[in-house]
Amino acid sequence: MTEDPAGRPPDIYNVDFDAIYQGEPLVEGVKTDRPPWDIEQAQPAVKELEGAGRLFGEVLDIGCGLGDNAIFLAAQGHRVTALDGSPTAIRKAEERARAQGAEVDFAVADATELAGYEGRFDSVLDSALYHCLDDEQRLRYTAALHRVAKPDALLNILCFCDDSPTPIPDAMTVPEDNIRSTLAATGWDITDLRRTIYAGAANVGELAANVGKPAGDEGGEAVLDENGHVSIPMWVVQARRG
Ligand SMILES: C[S@@+](CC[C@H](N)C(=O)[O-])C[C@H]1O[C@@H](n2cnc3c(N)ncnc32)[C@H](O)[C@@H]1O
Repeated sequence: MTEDPAGRPPDIYNVDFDAIYQGEPLVEGVKTDRPPWDIEQAQPAVKELEGAGRLFGEVLDIGCGLGDNAIFLAAQGHRVTALDGSPTAIRKAEERARAQGAEVDFAVADATELAGYEGRFDSVLDSALYHCLDDEQRLRYTAALHRVAKPDALLNILCFCDDSPTPIPDAMTVPEDNIRSTLAATGWDITDLRRTIYAGAANVGELAANVGKPAGDEGGEAVLDENGHVSIPMWVVQARRG
């Protein structure tokens, strides 16, 4: 993602995730020690979903990144397949799983295709992938999820929320209508949609200041929680395969 000198929104749908996992900066010229979503542990919101019984049976963690959510789910006794488009992320996730003795089936896959996984999953976790895709990709993605899900499967999506003050660039936030129309068009029935919080690494504030959200701007201030994480407003969506 690079800052546009003309002040236009960053090119959010052309992020080279593999380069970021190899250490390239997410925002040009802003070197950080880690991707802003890497908190080296499962997201508290994912723990809540698991505790509520919303991740069960054969679980797919799609866009799994460095694997901490998948590793947590495996530790709770779930059978987890964790897929990401970045080979570097998958290699690093496998290392983290090995170090923790966790059994997760990691593989590289394009979320908008998911060929070879048809009819496999009882429940799906999307932790911060949906908002990385443009509208056309979102349709192909949720249609692909429909193909790989079993009848009655449950889909859980965490994505950037557009209706609360946020350190995230406005162009990356998702209107509720977008989620509703995309899921309806691809055969998913929304059964719950509410707000939650995603824990970002402390560098979210620094990155935000470089994409037009300087600290102190309306909604742009990144405040650290008691664990040193930045609280990012998210939608948490539950949908049943129709
Ligand atoms: C913001 S990160 C979230 C990572 C992880 N789920 C988490 O919450 O820490 C988004 C992830 O989606 C992956 N991703 C983006 N587009 C993808 C695609 N088309 N297919 C598969 N993975 C994709 C990226 O490589 C990245 O790991």
